[in-house]
Amino acid sequence: MVKLAIDGGIPVRSAPLQGGFHGSAAIDQTEINAVTNVLKKKRLFRFLGDEQESEAAQVEAWYKARLGRQHALAVNGGTAALICAMYGLDLGPGDEVIIPAHTYVATAAAVIAAGAVPVIAEIDNSLNIDPSDVEKKITPYTKAIVPVHMRGIPARMAEIMAISEKHGIPVIEDVAQANGGSYRGKYLGSMGKVGCFSFQQYKIITSGEGGIFVTDDQDVYYRGRMQHDCAIGFWPSVDKTQHDYAVSGENYRISELAASLVLTQCGRLDSLLSTFRATKKRITQGVKDIKGLALQDVPDPEGDCGIAFVFFAPTPDLAKRLSAALNAENIRCGTIYDNTIPDRHIYANWPFMTSGKAEIRRMPWMSPYYKGSVRNYTREQCPQSLGYLERAVMMFIDQFFTAQDADQVVEAITKVASALL
Ligand SMILES: Cc1ncc(COP(=O)(O)O)c(C=O)c1O
Repeated sequence: MVKLAIDGGIPVRSAPLQGGFHGSAAIDQTEINAVTNVLKKKRLFRFLGDEQESEAAQVEAWYKARLGRQHALAVNGGTAALICAMYGLDLGPGDEVIIPAHTYVATAAAVIAAGAVPVIAEIDNSLNIDPSDVEKKITPYTKAIVPVHMRGIPARMAEIMAISEKHGIPVIEDVAQANGGSYRGKYLGSMGKVGCFSFQQYKIITSGEGGIFVTDDQDVYYRGRMQHDCAIGFWPSVDKTQHDYAVSGENYRISELAASLVLTQCGRLDSLLSTFRATKKRITQGVKDIKGLALQDVPDPEGDCGIAFVFFAPTPDLAKRLSAALNAENIRCGTIYDNTIPDRHIYANWPFMTSGKAEIRRMPWMSPYYKGSVRNYTREQCPQSLGYLERAVMMFIDQFFTAQDADQVVEAITKVASALL
């Protein structure tokens, strides 16, 4: 048998293969020109001058056209987009919002910022929210369900939308990590009542910080827009309709500099996705029949953004050993849940909920409007989710991977699996 690099053998690659940034790594003169043009115009704030000519309005027009949505509002982050969506839906104190056990902590923080109580649902072997657990978590207080399309993988939208319709509970899609992905031919963010995106640097396309929400519901849009600017009704360039809601607002406006960057990066989205997808397809084809490895279930492989490749080992211990052996072969990867690393993409590492040290006076659980019973969270409360996450080995994919890189990933996984499984 071939000697593994971890045991002193020759590694499959001579240098580490690293998945890195996407949109920001693609920045070239196009982005520099876009930002420079904004500086030359000296219009850094969207609500000065002709609104339709603002960079922000152009980003919104791009998203509306692509997703076939009636309304879009660019904001200064993905968290801001989620908060505006929640205010847009008029949810707050007294309400519960169902979110997955595996999502970036911002999804939970946005629920709390809106004054509502996060209810954590299990994930399944797609590492996205498990529809059967969503249904179990519904109470008379549930005001929204938030599927998160983690690491570019579409959530099980058919099942989730069926639950939404059956119970009359709106869906907010968190598309922060899956910009450009789709499910059964529909873009992610176009199916729920609201879709929320992030343009933070780790995301597929980026302006460093930024986000957008999209919806077909006029009330949601206007209320969300009021939340994103406490003076929205006063700007001369803003239409004066529908400003009679009692939303005081906070300020989550996007700057024209950031909007010009996003607009440029929108033009890169499809070509970035096609490179990730080609790499992921090649790796998946190469390893799908390896005995003992189960691949992450991808609800619609055609719509997967392709930025992450995940397989499950039979046990958590084997996942750690496979991951260590692959890293020694210079294939960078890691297990997802490991008690020693506080990965903020796992509910167990959200101390403002699980430590019992929450600043109680600010918290939605103490609201006199809240009649539900979700008050205590524990690190162990979602065993099914932790069970999948601790057996998962994940590697990131970027646009610089070549076909040879993909083949070396396949070779390394085949090598370590045949030695360890
Ligand atoms: C799933 C998810 N939701 C929300 C956010 C929040 O986005 P932002 O950092 O732009 O506020 C992020 C990323 O940071 C995320 O990954």
